[in-house]
Amino acid sequence: MPFQSTFDFRMPTHIVHGVGSITRLAQLLADGARPLVVADPGLVEAGIVARATDVLDNAGLKWTLFTDVVGNPVAKNVSAGARAYAKGKCNALVGLGGGSPMDVAKMIGVVATGGGRIEQYLGAGKVTVDLPPLVCVPTTYGTGSEVTPFAVLTNPKTQNKDPVISHRITPGVAILDPDLSVALPIALGGTTGMDALTHAIESYTNLLSTPLTEGIALSAIEMIGDNLRIACANDHEIEATQQMLIASCMAGVAFAQTRLGNVHAMSHPVGAQFGVHHGLANAVLLPHVMDYNLQTRLGKFAQIASALGEETEGLSEYDAACLAVEAVRQMNDDLGIPDGLKATGVKASGINQLAKTAMQSGNVAVNPRKTTLADMQALFRTAM
Ligand SMILES: [Fe+2]
Repeated sequence: MPFQSTFDFRMPTHIVHGVGSITRLAQLLADGARPLVVADPGLVEAGIVARATDVLDNAGLKWTLFTDVVGNPVAKNVSAGARAYAKGKCNALVGLGGGSPMDVAKMIGVVATGGGRIEQYLGAGKVTVDLPPLVCVPTTYGTGSEVTPFAVLTNPKTQNKDPVISHRITPGVAILDPDLSVALPIALGGTTGMDALTHAIESYTNLLSTPLTEGIALSAIEMIGDNLRIACANDHEIEATQQMLIASCMAGVAFAQTRLGNVHAMSHPVGAQFGVHHGLANAVLLPHVMDYNLQTRLGKFAQIASALGEETEGLSEYDAACLAVEAVRQMNDDLGIPDGLKATGVKASGINQLAKTAMQSGNVAVNPRKTTLADMQALFRTAM
């Protein structure tokens, strides 16, 4: 099994987990902290933002709330947030919600300390100044943004999503409180959970995986297989939700080191060009890309099948590997996720542009199977 003969493994985030752990928010910020709390309007309405700001109030900390965050965040969300940060005389950040508010909090931090516009920081290694203290609180069990050095910005001009990549934007603290995500609607829980599964599978099988990341990613796959359906089944499955939050964080730790693969290369333009939710796009694409990659990592896909509860004893490695794809298809089906992009609003006429944009992603280079533009077009056609 190939693995990186040299690698770095970096995990600077202090991870705090437990039911009710949001009550530690003030304590985990420095004395005299004046945070900008970045969330979205849905979280305010659901009373989740108040759970966090009540803690800040009780500790006597002043805070400013910023909720101008959309599903696929754009540069103006970041510049508006940086203005709110300055106006509120803030000196810290709290990113509360799914991937979008957490990523926007990271990018506000970049502009607040480094100045200029967020577009200047797209790509790797462009952030040269440390961020203000940043605490991230995921309220879905999918993105892993609470532990990653990535923040994704949608660019309407290029119709793609471009990442800011820097270890300086990895949050200092992540609070995993299952109480905040226990009643996620299935449409959100199912798709964000499948995003986490995609992170784990892409990290486990890609060219940059290492023994350290493989162990974490494979455990995350098993936990997601055991818990995602239960967490989505009703509004009070606290234990399954807890397992999902931890698994999503573990998948984040793994792909923070390795990056991802073709699923994410493809889902970013799908999100940018057709407005499809990130988790939904990944969930639909995942079995198709697994099928494409299967032949390059039979042993690993057989392990994935087994981690997802498939009976692989007595099967050939190839047959066992195929069961991994079937298991993921079945999970999608159980969660009400369609098996093709057409059902999410993607038009076949957009395939050439989608494929061209996907090929620009750094995730293609680390995908376990070499992918040309023609391969990418074929992948999109199959996934329709
Ligand atoms: Fe993702």
